[in-house]
Amino acid sequence: MANETILVTGGAGFIGANLVRYMLASWPNARVVTLDALTYAGHTANLAGLEDGRHVFIQGDIRDQPLLVGLLREHAVRGVIHLAAETHVDRSIVGPEVFVQSNVLGTLRLLEAVREVAQEQPEQIRRVVHVSTDEVYGTLGAEDAAFTPRSRYAPRSPYSASKAGGDHLARAYFHTYGLPIVVTNCSNNYGPYQHPEKLIPLMIGNALAGEPLPLYGDGRQVRDWLYVDDHCAGLAVALDQGQPGETYLFGGANQTTNLELVTAICDLLDELLPRADGFRYGALITHVADRPGHDRRYVVDGDKAWQTLGWQPSHNLTEGLRKTVAWYLGAGAEWLAARRAEPEYQDWLEENYDPRGGADQ
Ligand code: NAD
Ligand code: DAU
Repeated sequence: MANETILVTGGAGFIGANLVRYMLASWPNARVVTLDALTYAGHTANLAGLEDGRHVFIQGDIRDQPLLVGLLREHAVRGVIHLAAETHVDRSIVGPEVFVQSNVLGTLRLLEAVREVAQEQPEQIRRVVHVSTDEVYGTLGAEDAAFTPRSRYAPRSPYSASKAGGDHLARAYFHTYGLPIVVTNCSNNYGPYQHPEKLIPLMIGNALAGEPLPLYGDGRQVRDWLYVDDHCAGLAVALDQGQPGETYLFGGANQTTNLELVTAICDLLDELLPRADGFRYGALITHVADRPGHDRRYVVDGDKAWQTLGWQPSHNLTEGLRKTVAWYLGAGAEWLAARRAEPEYQDWLEENYDPRGGADQ
């Protein structure tokens, strides 16, 4: 795929923008077409600096099947990486419908567009990577083994249920129509350009503003953190070498509780941006009402990705978190301030967190 044209849906979002940058840098002969609706979560600023003739940005909705068919034909697309989705669990609890629209219906429309083009040009599209989440497998207890590609689907939030719906459609299009679908499910990503509604940039932004750091419940929930560039490397190899019909899990091999993670962020801020008054950022940590149906623990077993694709993460959390905090304090400082200042984001905070920064549930 290194010499081909690739369509990235959702490419103006967090993972998408990092992926577009990663592919253009790693594959000097590749061209990338980015399709993104620019919802509250997507921003062209995430793609700034990529105007070198190998990247085309199209604003459009993933549910617009004629637009998709036109793009696949016009650009002679050989590979698709499908990331466009509504992605925030808390927003899915407040308003589930748009999640079904974008994550289920949007995926269906993309699959139909690929099917239409494949009927005319059976050899054109070599692979479609459908990007999903470990959350479709539900929640784990402290001692449970990690999710594997054979784990039973058991989504528990409207977000993960909608992602599961999209995954089932993607697999059905492999079995029924023979489309070259590869499914990937990954753990929590972190790194540059992540929307500040998500845990890590939310905590960094609030800490810098001297605002409370709202930790849901006891803060002992466990996530497996994957540095976004490592995920991008996995997606590139899945596009290039993934076996159609197969599922690959990408994990960070970095399990930690939310409390430990937020404490580590505060320690990094104390080191990199100490406050003149001697105040330590950790004092801002505030336990607030828990997320309804909050999944306790996710961890994925990355053995198959390692054995078959030769992929494994290259960052541990200590290194990745330091790079990430440094980016939000340095090159990404203006970006973070601009995203936090958006009226839509301010409304989200106001409606969903109490004035002291707590979750308002
Ligand atoms: P994000 O919210 O930062 O970006 C999503 C992008 O999709 C945005 O740019 C948005 O404008 C676009 N979009 C939303 N609805 C659209 C529509 N109807 N049509 C076209 N574009 C639309 O999300 P992210 O964190 O970058 O996640 C990308 C993908 O990876 C999602 O499918 C998500 O489920 C999956 N994923 C994310 C993580 C994670 O930790 N961030 C982990 C596992 C899987
Ligand atoms: O596991 C992969 C998933 O990771 C992706 O599929 C989702 O798109 C992505 O948003 C992420 O979901 P999470 O719910 O795990 O991420 P979030 O950043 O929202 O929260 C991480 C943890 O932090 C989770 O246990 C909830 C907690 N949290 C989150 C927020 C926003 C808090 O304690 N306080 C908060 O204010």
